[in-house]
Amino acid sequence: MKIGIGHAHGKIILIGEHSVVYSQPAIALPFKGVQVSVKVTPSEQMTVDCIYHQGLLEEAPSQLDNIKAVTLEVFKRLNKQQNFHIHIESTIPQERGMGSSAAVANATIAAIYDYYDETLDKQTQFELAQVAEAISHGDPSGLDALITVSDKPLYFVKGQEIDELDIEIKGYLIIGDTGEKGQTKLAVQALGQRKLENPQLINELIYGLGRLAYSLKELLKGNDLYTIGSILNKSQQYLSQMGISNSSLNNLITISNQSGSLGSKLTGGGWGGCMLALSDDLVLAQQIEEALLKNNARQTWVLAF
Ligand code: PMV
Repeated sequence: MKIGIGHAHGKIILIGEHSVVYSQPAIALPFKGVQVSVKVTPSEQMTVDCIYHQGLLEEAPSQLDNIKAVTLEVFKRLNKQQNFHIHIESTIPQERGMGSSAAVANATIAAIYDYYDETLDKQTQFELAQVAEAISHGDPSGLDALITVSDKPLYFVKGQEIDELDIEIKGYLIIGDTGEKGQTKLAVQALGQRKLENPQLINELIYGLGRLAYSLKELLKGNDLYTIGSILNKSQQYLSQMGISNSSLNNLITISNQSGSLGSKLTGGGWGGCMLALSDDLVLAQQIEEALLKNNARQTWVLAF
C-alpha cells in the first residue's frame, strides 16, 4: 500500500514572542528533542487518529480545525482530492509554546506531498502551514511555521528575509513546563487590546523587546553568557509588564534564578506553557531541572546550544 510520511519538530522561542507579531525581531531554536510524524494512507473516508480524536476528520474536535483546513488547501494546490487516513504521532506537548500546532500542520502537509511524490518547496510549505496557523493562532507571525521545519536557529522579522543563525555560545537551556496549557490566541488578542488602551506603554515594551532581540543576535556570536542571561531576564520583565506571564511561570522563573540560572523567561505565547533558563554548565543545568521538578514543573528538558 502506498503511504506518505512527513516529519517536523518542536521549537523554543529564545526571545521576541509577542513583539514578533508587531514586526519586531525574534530568535527561535529548533528543538528536535520533541518531534511529530504523520503518516497518510488511502482510506474510504477522511479519518484521523491522534490524541484528540480517532474517527472521521469532519467529526474531530476544534483542536483539529487547523488540520481540516490545511488538508483542503493542500488538495486545492495539488489539484487532487482523495480520502486519507491521517495518523499523527507526537512527543511535542500540546499548547505549551513548543510549536505543536505548526509542527503537526507541517508534517501533515509534507506527508500528503510525499504520498503524491510532489516536490514541496519551502515557500509553498510556509504558505500552507500559515493557513493552519491562522486557525490555531488568529494572527500568526509565521515564526512557528518556519522554525518547526528548520534545522538551524532563525532570526525572524515578519515579512523580511529570514536569517539562519550560527550560534557559537557553549551553554545549556533548561525548559520547564508549567503543566498548564498556554493560551497563545487569547494572549495575543489581550495584548492587542492593551495596545489600543495604552499605546505608549505597550509600544515602548514592544520596541524594547525588539532591541533586546537585536542585541541578543549579536551576542550569540560570542560566549558572554552573563550578558545573554541579563537580556533574557530583561525580556521577562517586559513580557510581565505586557501581562503575558502568570503565577505558574513566575514561580518556575524564580526557582530557576534562585538555583543559579543566568537568566530566565517564559517562552512562547505565555499564560501557561513553558519557561526557559540558561546555564553555562551541564551539572548546574541538571540541578536547575531538579529544582523545577520539585517545584511543580510537569516536565523539563535540557538542550545544549
Ligand atoms: O505559543 P507559541 O509557541 O505558538 O508561540 C507564539 C508566539 C507568538 O509570538 C505569541 C505568536 C506568533 O504568532 O508569533
